[in-house]
Amino acid sequence: MSVLGKTVGFSVLLTLVFTLVANLLPQVEGEAPEEKIIDLGALTMDSFVALGESLFSGKGTCTLCHNDMGRAPDLLAIDVIQTAEQHLADESYRGAASDAVGYLHESLVDPGAYVVKGFGKKGSNDGESPMPHVDKPPIQLSAVEMDAIIAFLQAKDGHEITVELPTEAPPATVEAEKKSSAAPAPAATGEEVAAKYGCQACHTLLGTESPVGPALTDVGSRLSVEQIRESIIQPDVEIAEGFSAGMMPKDFADRMTVKELEMIVKLLSEQKG
Ligand code: HEC
Ligand code: HEC
Repeated sequence: MSVLGKTVGFSVLLTLVFTLVANLLPQVEGEAPEEKIIDLGALTMDSFVALGESLFSGKGTCTLCHNDMGRAPDLLAIDVIQTAEQHLADESYRGAASDAVGYLHESLVDPGAYVVKGFGKKGSNDGESPMPHVDKPPIQLSAVEMDAIIAFLQAKDGHEITVELPTEAPPATVEAEKKSSAAPAPAATGEEVAAKYGCQACHTLLGTESPVGPALTDVGSRLSVEQIRESIIQPDVEIAEGFSAGMMPKDFADRMTVKELEMIVKLLSEQKG
């Protein structure tokens, strides 16, 4: 091919790429807050806080439990920093933190260091926390992601942000979060459905454990396919023994595609203990 041919070919390719990017942009902007900057050189505290906010309701699955339904303290409604300071000073505090940021970090990686009264694991007399260690699977936040969430918790009530901006943030983290919040792709397998909707935050399933809801490792031998489907679509119709109504989110039917629902129902019906 001649040099001219190559040059023209390259220009056509570039034009195609730009057209593609231009077509994708409006979608991305519509879904994601515009502060979500991926260039780390340009990472500002504002964009770090925005990342924390999207992790709080997205990958972190924090809002599955921390909401106004009473299953966990409603962190969006309270001043988390003031509360942290009060709990640090409480005589039943068993951790090693000396300030609010340390306390919040500890709450994420070692939730049992302080159990908020009335929210302990059933039967533990507030001795054990039902909150998952969010640095472990299935949630598995990185250190940078946890810092972003803490920055968001400081910022939301107007406190000074004292966590430091990452100097060597793994760009993959920010990139992945941008992708995941831009356009949540439909899950391709039952396992992906469980991960996408945070089922494992509350249920023992596929090798991870949680005490919040009934273990689903044998649900296929306890419930029929219809009962499993109903438990997901209308969780409050039939309440699993020993658990209370109002814990399991009721909007999965609205949020899942029909195919995702059928994949998770099939996966669960195959869990026979
Ligand atoms: C499966 C439910 C669940 C999920 C998911 C969850 N938490 Fe919790 N969390 C709880 C419960 C219940 C408590 C209260 C018991 C305790 O103190 O450990 C709690 C306590 C906390 C506390 C301590 C609050 C205080 O007043 O001392 C913080 C901070 C916290 N969670 C942050 C988070 C963040 C951030 C996430 C997401 C990355 C998250 N949690 C995910 C259930 C959950
Ligand atoms: C915030 C916690 C939470 C999340 C997230 C959650 N569940 Fe649940 N789930 C519960 C609780 C608590 C129960 C028991 C009370 C009830 O039956 O409503 C339950 C009950 C169930 C049951 C009935 C189990 C039985 O033994 O009768 C099924 C099936 C189920 N959940 C599937 C799912 C699936 C699938 C997902 C993810 C798409 C999911 N859950 C997400 C808390 C949760």
